[in-house]
Amino acid sequence: MNAKISFEGNEYEFPVVEGSEKEFGIDISKLRGTTGGLITLDRGFKNTGSCESAITFLNGEEGILRYRGYSIEELAEKGSFLEVAYLLIFGELPTKTELEKFHKDIKAESHVDEEMKKILDGFPKSAHPMGVVSSLTSALIAFNPSSVNVESEEDMYNAIVKLLAKFPVICSWALRKSKGHPLDYGDNSLGYVENVLKMMFKKPNEDYKIDPVIASALNKLLILHADHEQNCSTSTVRIVGSSHAGLFASISAGVSALWGPLHGGANQAVIDMLEGIKADGGDTKKYMAKAKDKEDPFRLMGFGHRVYKNFDPRAKIIKKSADEVLGNLGVEDPVLDIAKGLEKEALEDDYFVKRKLYPNVDFYSGIIYRALGIPTNMFTVMFALGRLPGWIAQWREMRLKKEPIGRPRQIYTGENLREMKDIDNR
Ligand code: ACO
Repeated sequence: MNAKISFEGNEYEFPVVEGSEKEFGIDISKLRGTTGGLITLDRGFKNTGSCESAITFLNGEEGILRYRGYSIEELAEKGSFLEVAYLLIFGELPTKTELEKFHKDIKAESHVDEEMKKILDGFPKSAHPMGVVSSLTSALIAFNPSSVNVESEEDMYNAIVKLLAKFPVICSWALRKSKGHPLDYGDNSLGYVENVLKMMFKKPNEDYKIDPVIASALNKLLILHADHEQNCSTSTVRIVGSSHAGLFASISAGVSALWGPLHGGANQAVIDMLEGIKADGGDTKKYMAKAKDKEDPFRLMGFGHRVYKNFDPRAKIIKKSADEVLGNLGVEDPVLDIAKGLEKEALEDDYFVKRKLYPNVDFYSGIIYRALGIPTNMFTVMFALGRLPGWIAQWREMRLKKEPIGRPRQIYTGENLREMKDIDNR
């Protein structure tokens, strides 16, 4: 199968690559060479595939999301976060023995060098936890300097296990620092998700009792966020890793990319928006009008998606879960009603219908995080915790396939050659 491009009277043919779900892509890797310099221009990479990947399948038109062939609905219903992490990274669901070994190996690395506390000390208490997490992930390299040899499965496995073990510790430290709580290393007798909760919430003078409703809700949220193919942060992880920077450096860059409100930072922005609407009297119609007004920079946060032009399947699961979790915990949150009202209005509104704007994963996730007692500025950190296995899986796949360094081209639109005038004559 080929595709033809004609330019200045010449016709060029390029092979078409077919994916396992009947997706097609024109392979233009020889475009510059055969045409004498022609490139493609695709702002925001809206039509550009950067790799072939066997990890996650996403069909935005039909609202389908699968990790390694398993539907997100089934994984969220039946899976544990750690087995989904294993699935994403290594390609198959683990056996009981494989999962036990994986968890044992993670537990053996679940401490962070005490010297890291000095770095944390340097941050003001008011620092945004995403900045702290990104910096501390990068700082982990200094304490774990062995570079990752991709020829060695063992080296790569060790780096992966270390990161899965230490990342939740530094995420919880970011929270504990902001609350003025002493740092904690958790409890290795607990499950991975339960330990995350204990590391975050244990008070120094009280036992922390795991609430199964909270643990199960967090498990589901982490699974739903675990991978999403070539999004902004994952592409960042891949492109940083493509320079052969190590795993920790690549993930630290991914955390920074996730932070922005157009990406993972949207979960915090949604709650800020809903709180703002509530404080303003709860007039959703006013905010709908603002979102549609092209002169107004306001956007309905948690709505719209680069790939989904249908319901985000994760949003459907999370909306149902929000009702269940708030009901089970006996929490009443007025912003849930505002969110439901906004969703209903948007789904019936021409502007949103025409542009195929639906609620995304972040529209309801913040409401659950809040019910679980997680502060707003930690929401994106929770997203990062969930996305960690996806970033690792994508980084590992990229390194194993020996992908070339990521280096896009550009069309230069600046000045032509000119002479540098003496400073007195400018
Ligand atoms: N509110 C109002 N209008 C919107 C919204 C929104 N949330 N999202 C998109 N639009 C409009 C745009 O103004 C544009 O209108 P136009 O065609 O009249 O110019 C049209 O819909 C297409 O939007 P783009 O910004 O071109 O779409 P893009 O794919 O570049 O952006 C994005 C996707 C960034 C997610 C966007 O929908 C958005 O800003 N949403 C709000 C932020 C958000 O929720 N981000 C989280 C995404 S999920 C995630 O990363 C985990």
